[in-house]
Amino acid sequence: MANPSLLILPGDGIGPEVMAEVRKVIDWFGTRGLAFDVEEDLVGGAAYDAHATPLADATMEKAHGVDAVLLGAVGGPKYDVLDFSVKPERGLLRLRKEMDLYANLRPAQCFDALADFSSLKRDVVAGLDIMIVRELTSGVYFGEPRGIHTEGNERVGINTQRYTESEIARVARSAFELARKRANRVCSMEKANVMESGILWREVVQEVHDREYQDVELSHMYADAGAMQLTRWPKQFDVIVTDNLFGDLLSDLAAMLTGSLGMLPSASLGAPMANGRPKALYEPVHGSAPDIAGQGKANPIACILSFAMALRYSFDLGDEATRVEKAVEAVLADGLRTADLIGEEGRAPVTTQEMGDAIVARLAAG
Ligand code: IPM
Ligand code: MG
Repeated sequence: MANPSLLILPGDGIGPEVMAEVRKVIDWFGTRGLAFDVEEDLVGGAAYDAHATPLADATMEKAHGVDAVLLGAVGGPKYDVLDFSVKPERGLLRLRKEMDLYANLRPAQCFDALADFSSLKRDVVAGLDIMIVRELTSGVYFGEPRGIHTEGNERVGINTQRYTESEIARVARSAFELARKRANRVCSMEKANVMESGILWREVVQEVHDREYQDVELSHMYADAGAMQLTRWPKQFDVIVTDNLFGDLLSDLAAMLTGSLGMLPSASLGAPMANGRPKALYEPVHGSAPDIAGQGKANPIACILSFAMALRYSFDLGDEATRVEKAVEAVLADGLRTADLIGEEGRAPVTTQEMGDAIVARLAAG
């Protein structure tokens, strides 16, 4: 059988350096009889510099052809002056849209060794394990009409929140399926009190539940109250399902509960391909962090854990994924910290490369 194939898009800022550490993990699996066919290409500002577009058509083609895409990060101040249509972020949004990656899984898990890094009290976050399922291909990110135009003597900026029933139903199913493998609870978040799209969202999620997932416990919450509850007592949640924009906000909030944005992976999944695997892109939740790029300060864990999610969700290699997660947990328990995790402990930080090496050494030690 052919090796599983990966397209790696390191992108901008700290993307390339955290991805270099992921390559070490991939190579380690290669030496253990689990080889991947890896191809690398450009996305974001790096692609713009080379091709004057944040995602070349040839790269888009490759993304369609592989089993999974692994992405670092996109964006940077250098590109702020670019026209909106060619900004680095458009490259990522094109991948999500054209691969139809509608279910964005963003787990927020608090590693025990890091419970004191949260801005919340230890007992509020210790043991936290929640999963945000963010709709990723529709809503206000893509709705039409959009743009800036002139009305009378002033400019007007317009974006449109738009959801179809089928778009809501399919992401709701993803959330219910995940919940069944976890604590079996889904909380759906919208603003049905002010938005028609929120009313429809709530109705459709409820219908899918009543028809297909009565065994799963479902609740609904307004997204603003959800933000409040996430900071008050996050452990009340198991799976949260929400739209593209609320999911963007709530997942950053949830990420910070765990102490550092440098820890959180994500998976963006679409419909199954001919080989039965879902279309998939894996990326850390953190951004390109241009202020620390190239200094060995970046935390590679989010990107390494994103590869672990690829093992689990694209390749059905749950044991291997767990092995990577355990290796990460072990190096944190050993006291290794990248610069983002230096708090009151007074430890000297390790570099991005040292963190990667330590994780591979732990993997090898079994
Ligand atoms: C994210 C990011 C992206 C988003 C940006 C980089 C386009 O914030 O993945 O959460 O807004 O979706
Ligand atoms: Mg975001």
